[in-house]
Amino acid sequence: MSDSPKHSRQPFGQYPRIRMRRNRSDDWVRRMVAEKVLTPADFIWPVFVKEGGAAKEPVPSLPGVNRLTVPALLKAAEQAARLGIPMLSLFPFVPKEKKTEDARECWRADNVIGKAIRALKKAVPEIGIMSDVALDPYISHGQDGLERGGRILNDETIEVLIRQSLALAEAGCDVVGPSDMMDGRIGRIRDALDANGFQHVKIMAYSAKYASNFYGPFREAVGSKSALGRADKRTYQMNPANGDEALREGALDVAEGADMLMVKPGLPYLDVLWRMKETFKMPTFAYQVSGEYAMLKAAAANGWLDNDKCVLETLMCFKRAGADGILTYSAVEACELLAKG
Ligand code: PBG
Repeated sequence: MSDSPKHSRQPFGQYPRIRMRRNRSDDWVRRMVAEKVLTPADFIWPVFVKEGGAAKEPVPSLPGVNRLTVPALLKAAEQAARLGIPMLSLFPFVPKEKKTEDARECWRADNVIGKAIRALKKAVPEIGIMSDVALDPYISHGQDGLERGGRILNDETIEVLIRQSLALAEAGCDVVGPSDMMDGRIGRIRDALDANGFQHVKIMAYSAKYASNFYGPFREAVGSKSALGRADKRTYQMNPANGDEALREGALDVAEGADMLMVKPGLPYLDVLWRMKETFKMPTFAYQVSGEYAMLKAAAANGWLDNDKCVLETLMCFKRAGADGILTYSAVEACELLAKG
């Protein structure tokens, strides 16, 4: 080895030649090497719709989220379209007197969701409309399926889900989102849509939907919380302990004809999201659910977390973990934050 200084080596470990910090030195280089970018096209905005009363009714456990009447929804949709949000996901608030054991309100053409979709398609045709396929807002006991003798019936429930899907498609819904977790429903809904001239209607399957405790504020928003009481959904939603099982769910939904997959909840399930995306290479979405939103808002209200920074960080983490988009109650605020830079 020559002893000329230009060939001398620095003692290993003391003066690193490879310095990761070089690529973090300035804003321009950080932006340049960023692997992911957040844009408004990444967000799907879940919105709660109600019939009559005040234009906006706050949901106490979801600060900043309101149940909207149809006219207020149209304004919100115009704002979302202006911001570049590609799609809304509509959820109904159903008053107690409309809930029945057979959830028949869910397929009535003129229910609140049907009215909302028709009005939206006329007034704001440039924004996509998705809506949930599940019985929980419409059923007296708050479960996602028909119940008999303490059991949630799978195949009988699917017949109702089909009627609900057809009603949504008839109203002009672009994407139906079965969130019920009954076995075999994606294929049956696909067949029914196709047989009725709705080949163009897309299915975003809630593929890996866990029996999570983070849905509480949502259940308050749609008015199913008190109906459900102390019951849970563990005989059809997934056990939070299971990851491999999510891949079996995903495989079934792909085989049955789903156009897009979803993992729900979001942040505690990023490993599942990653595995789904890696395995199926499908358009894959994450749902940052109500409890996740509520946690952040509560911490921010106490001054314990910086709301704006944490909103954008959590959304970026979904992208890193493989999401093609995120359902988030923060969609509008995130667009506004992105626009501010
Ligand atoms: C209905 C449905 C739920 C959510 C979306 N669709 C609740 C549940 O399964 O009990 C939760 C969304 C959220 O918490 O933001 N099946």
